Order: sequence, then structure tokens, then C-alpha cells
Amino acid sequence: MLSEDKAKELMSEILPDDPEKMREILETFDVLMMRYDSAIREVRTKLEILNDELSLHGQQSPISAINSRRKKPMSILEKLKRYGVEVSLDSIEKNLNDVAGIRVICSFVDDIYKVAAMLARQDDIKVVQIKDYIKNPKPNGYRSYHMIVEVPVFFSNEKRPMRVEVQIRTVAMDFWASLEHKMKYKQDIENAEEIMAQLKECADTISETDMKMMRIREKIRADRTEQETFVQP
Ligand code: GTP
Ligand code: MG
Repeated sequence: MLSEDKAKELMSEILPDDPEKMREILETFDVLMMRYDSAIREVRTKLEILNDELSLHGQQSPISAINSRRKKPMSILEKLKRYGVEVSLDSIEKNLNDVAGIRVICSFVDDIYKVAAMLARQDDIKVVQIKDYIKNPKPNGYRSYHMIVEVPVFFSNEKRPMRVEVQIRTVAMDFWASLEHKMKYKQDIENAEEIMAQLKECADTISETDMKMMRIREKIRADRTEQETFVQP
């Protein structure tokens, strides 16, 4: 996180002294943020519709939760600086993929791929990037399926393609990631290496458990189908 002083320094760099110009920039920023909020709503609705459909007829919902967030102005600024790109409104749309972010929590690993594929094949969605950290976990053990999608959003007199980062993971992967995330701000603790090794171990155990849970669900399903077939005349 940026210190308050650093934030002020950055703000003075991008905001002009002329109050009229400053007002103009801040207003345009608000418009841009409103567009990202709209894009989040569009993609969120798509995911909710998919989940509603797949939950019909007593089927288990593939999605157990959907969380979304729009990046805070200071984090946007910090990231532009970190990337070494121009700090401007145009640069935000050009260089950042995660101003709008949606996290989809699924019960089972195969639901992740099902939901991702269903979203990707909608004809107004353009998949810009996929990072499959489930097939290729990060060295720290991080697992999740990441998609950057572009969705058209209709405004009063234009249609704009807006980018949204969609992270899809299981409940267990999400539990792990939220604890691991806390380590990011605790680099100075003495037993960091040991904690990281333990987290890696947990990530691997979680992955095995996720797979086992899926196999158990299949067995339960197969058993139920057998019984249903049996009672049919
Ligand atoms: P960032 O600059 O962090 O956004 O990375 P990136 O643009 O290379 O994208 P990536 O797909 O690797 O990561 C995007 C987001 O996924 C991050 O902002 C985090 O929310 C999450 N993420 C990625 N790696 C990790 C990790 O090791 N641990 C945790 N807890 N979250 C992660
Ligand atoms: Mg990112």
C-alpha cells in the first residue's frame, strides 16, 4: 500500500494546478469508474443466469458465491507506477486488466471449467487472456482459473468494450488464497520461510482433497442414478 505522503506526491504529479482542469479530470475518472461498475454488473448477471439454469431440477449449484470489486483509485495509481506506464485515464483502460474484478467460488473443480467454458462461448464475450493456475499452480501453491474478458456495455450514445478480470476457484482454494494473501503484507516476520513452506503443503493437500471430493460426488451421483433406474417400470 502507498503511504499517504507518497499518494499525495503521485496525485500532485497527475492532477494539474488549474482547478477547472482538475475538475474535468476527476469527472472523467468518475465516468470511467462507472463504466467498470457497469461491466461488473453485466458479467455478474451472466454468471448468475448460468448458475440459475444449472441449478434447476434439484441439481447442485455449480457456483457457491460471486464476489466483485472495483479497484480503488490509489491501487490503480500504484499499479500504473509499478508497470512504469503513463499515469493517465487512457492508460488505465489500455494497460490495466483488473480494474473490474469478479471472483467466482465453485464447489467442485470441474464446475470451474464448466462455468469458464459457458462464459467464454457467449457470443458477446471476448476472451482476452486465460491463466490456468489450476493446471499450472504458482510455486507458492496458488491455484485459480483466471480469465480476462471483454464485454460490450451499452451507454446512452455508445457501446464500449470493457475488460473484466474473472477469477474462478473452489471454496478450498479461496480459503487458502485469503490466508496466503495476508503474508504479502508480512514480509518482515521472522519465520516467513517456514510459514510459506507450510502454506505450500496446505495448498497441495487442498488440491488432493478437491479431487477426492469430486470423485466422491461422482460415486454419489452414480449410486443415485442406479437407484432411479431401478424404480423405473
Ligand atoms: P497482478 O499484477 O498481481 O495483478 O498479477 P498479474 O497481472 O500478473 O495477474 P495474475 O493473473 O497473476 O494475478 C491476478 C490476481 O490473482 C492478483 O491480483 C491476486 O488477486 C490473485 N493472485 C495471483 N497470484 C496470487 C497468489 O500467489 N496468492 C494470492 N493470494 N492471490 C494471487
Ligand atoms: Mg491483476
